[in-house]
Amino acid sequence: MYRWQGLRAGFQIDDSGTPSLLVTSLPTQQPTGIERFIDRYADEYHFYGSGKVALRDGLAGLVDGARSQNVLVPAYLPDGVVEPLRELEVEPRYYAVEPTLAPDFVDLERRLDEDTLAVMSVNYFGFPQPGLAELESIVADADCYHIDDNAHAPLSVDHGTLLGTRGDIGITSLWKLLPIPNGAILYCTDESVSDRYEPSPLAGIRGRVDASDCRYILKSVIQEFLDTAPPVRHSVDALLTGRRSGSTTPTVGSPADRYEAWKTQMSTLSAYLANDIDPTEIRQTRRDNFRIWRHILDDYDTLDPVFDSLPDGICPQAFPVRTDDARAFIAELERVGVDGVHTWPRLAGTVLENPAYETATRLSREIVTLPVHQHVDSAALESVGDALQWE
Ligand SMILES: Cc1ncc(COP(=O)(O)O)c(C=O)c1O
Repeated sequence: MYRWQGLRAGFQIDDSGTPSLLVTSLPTQQPTGIERFIDRYADEYHFYGSGKVALRDGLAGLVDGARSQNVLVPAYLPDGVVEPLRELEVEPRYYAVEPTLAPDFVDLERRLDEDTLAVMSVNYFGFPQPGLAELESIVADADCYHIDDNAHAPLSVDHGTLLGTRGDIGITSLWKLLPIPNGAILYCTDESVSDRYEPSPLAGIRGRVDASDCRYILKSVIQEFLDTAPPVRHSVDALLTGRRSGSTTPTVGSPADRYEAWKTQMSTLSAYLANDIDPTEIRQTRRDNFRIWRHILDDYDTLDPVFDSLPDGICPQAFPVRTDDARAFIAELERVGVDGVHTWPRLAGTVLENPAYETATRLSREIVTLPVHQHVDSAALESVGDALQWE
């Protein structure tokens, strides 16, 4: 059952007789399901509305305003992620990547200098950053900070360590994995980061339910209706699009506009919904769906899964697969009822234009991300496998 219904207890009638959502019944101080999970692994963390805002606040205390500084980020990165750096007047400096998604260390070291404030690694698609040990040793030699960008992997645990907590700063996006309108976490794992951290007004959980929360509930109600209406109920399309997790916050417009639109605290609704999740169950379902995709794609030589194995503790964000003809593959997926599939990510213009980042550009055209969402029904997924026709 979809969780908006739990909110009914929070509907109240105001003096004018109009139903309104009052926050008094929504817990904001209680430890959430996600908090109980994260408390097992991290000492200091702070909630935000989006990963980018969390990154902004985490870095803000570290920036030396008197110098011009840079942060090294992988070229294989969505265009908007560098917006917080620009806001802090820090130069985002892209480093090249390998086809394995490991950094191209020769390129990375070439770009590093005494003005480098930090180097970012990324746990792509829920998996640990390939080549992390070498990156950590370069960062230690350079005596700069390490940012563990864990936007994709809030529930992934690698050999007992929660992904996102391996840098001096880490960020994680809750809203990408959970059916909540927004929500992210900043991890402060280094003492000097904690000492210098000053929460901006965007830190924390909003004290009241607002219009965007109400829009999200309305969207969920409509989706719930569509999913139970007889003509639609059996539609594989509805099951696989992942629409339920769709946020009401824009994903179109310029990177700067999108960053501005996502400048919010975590909403009360998100905190409430995150209170109700079972991380172990979500991780298990996503792992099961990941394995089904692997089994389906095993039959096709021209589809190359990005990850060969699914180590214990990893909670995949998607099943990424490489293909020479992403457009045709996506069209075939749509034909068998899998909508909303796309290549990833939308790269920055400066990356696309520069031949030094040729691998990142190629990966962004070839990697298609298949849904493993916990609401995707495994039987529906298996029927997709039966219907799929590919060379
Ligand atoms: C690798 C990576 N880092 C950071 C972010 C930013 O996260 P958010 O959208 O929560 O701001 C994204 C978003 O797509 C991402 O893919």
